[in-house]
Amino acid sequence: MPNVVVVGTQWGDEGKGKIVDLLTRQAKMVVRYQGGNNAGHTLVVGGEKFIFHLVPSGILHPGTQCCIGNGVVLDPEVFLMEIDRLEGRGFKIGPENLRLSERTQVIMPYHQRLDIAREEKKGAGKIGTTGRGIGPCYEDKVGRRGIRVADLIDPDSLKAKLADILPEKNFFLEKFLGAQPFTVEEILSKYAKMGARLKPLVANVSVLIDQAVKQGKNVLFEGAQGTHLDIDHGTYPYVTSSNPVAGGAATGAGVGPGQLHRVLGIVKAYTTRVGSGPFPTECLDKIGDHLVECGVEFGSTTGRRRRCGWLDAVVLKDSARLNGLTGLAITKLDVLTTLNPVKICVAYEVDGVQRDTIPPTIKDLERCRPVYEEVPGWQEDLRGVRRFEDFPAATKNYLKRVEELVGVPIQIVSVGPDREETIVVQNPFD
Ligand code: IMP
Repeated sequence: MPNVVVVGTQWGDEGKGKIVDLLTRQAKMVVRYQGGNNAGHTLVVGGEKFIFHLVPSGILHPGTQCCIGNGVVLDPEVFLMEIDRLEGRGFKIGPENLRLSERTQVIMPYHQRLDIAREEKKGAGKIGTTGRGIGPCYEDKVGRRGIRVADLIDPDSLKAKLADILPEKNFFLEKFLGAQPFTVEEILSKYAKMGARLKPLVANVSVLIDQAVKQGKNVLFEGAQGTHLDIDHGTYPYVTSSNPVAGGAATGAGVGPGQLHRVLGIVKAYTTRVGSGPFPTECLDKIGDHLVECGVEFGSTTGRRRRCGWLDAVVLKDSARLNGLTGLAITKLDVLTTLNPVKICVAYEVDGVQRDTIPPTIKDLERCRPVYEEVPGWQEDLRGVRRFEDFPAATKNYLKRVEELVGVPIQIVSVGPDREETIVVQNPFD
């Protein structure tokens, strides 16, 4: 049985949640492998809207085991709030459908305060983070001073770790950032209580995945953010602090790379980005306004207006290589309706020379001008289309061109937010 990794191919917000939800019908297990509550996955099921920041999007399917892998950074308060909300809407949550790795790093309140205070201090040079403490938590993981779920559920360990870590955090918060410090006591009681609530869900997720694989069950690995926000391969330093690329699923879930059989790249039919950083195809004109308005391009985590522009095939080709993509899922195709012509960036031009790869420095990427190819647009509303052959000729032409440029077959096309507004050309699990 194949396992599938779902990754974002752009700068996040490609619509991964909807595709994961769709594919979960065939997966017995869904695993989040990186990121934290900087992600926001929006699903619309039967007209009802769900937004998840931490809980894997597969949770709405009865009989599916959802797991949070060791590569995730988890804010326990947000996680418990999502569980409470789901229970409030009639979903039963327990170890039978939600498990949390004992090795997952915990986002502590000082991580969030550091994130916000640091961004404020940077002023115009800020990254534009989500302010959720993601970067500082990953820093502590790599600095070997992180608090993991196994510590959170053990009050003695939690107390000892906090006593060890807080003097350094407080020094930095107070003396460098001019922010308020924390006491061990104020964190300990609140976090130990949350640890106790989470304890029944805690497991060795790597072992659970291994068991599922050995029983021949399909496993779906759910990436958050996108390839160009990857700490190694993205537009550094305007990136997140984890590895959203498919390889991140191996380390972030605890599986061998040979278990990642298929990689489905989610491609929004245009490009969006939130926060700072270069964006060669950004449209600061009425095209950008159309994409924001018709695509409802406001962040599901921070509510920020997303920056919008044409599809960038340079970015997508890079993603195809970095992730080993085996299929594409095109989302929000309906948003392009009425735009004519439709543009696709096929290369960058710098000082009269064309290139089809992304330069490693921001300085050089900022100098890249997009080279566009124009294809005819279409006027027809696509939201009712359920078979590929029923698309207008111009739409089919656009999709074929994207496929050619990226060199990866299109397997899924989404024409609206609802589960039903989807065309499966080829099932990634087949
Ligand atoms: P952080 O992940 O909060 O540290 O933010 C770093 C950068 O990644 C910022 O530009 C954020 O806007 C961006 N980012 C983080 N998570 C997401 C996401 O889920 N979608 C889109 N952008 C994101």
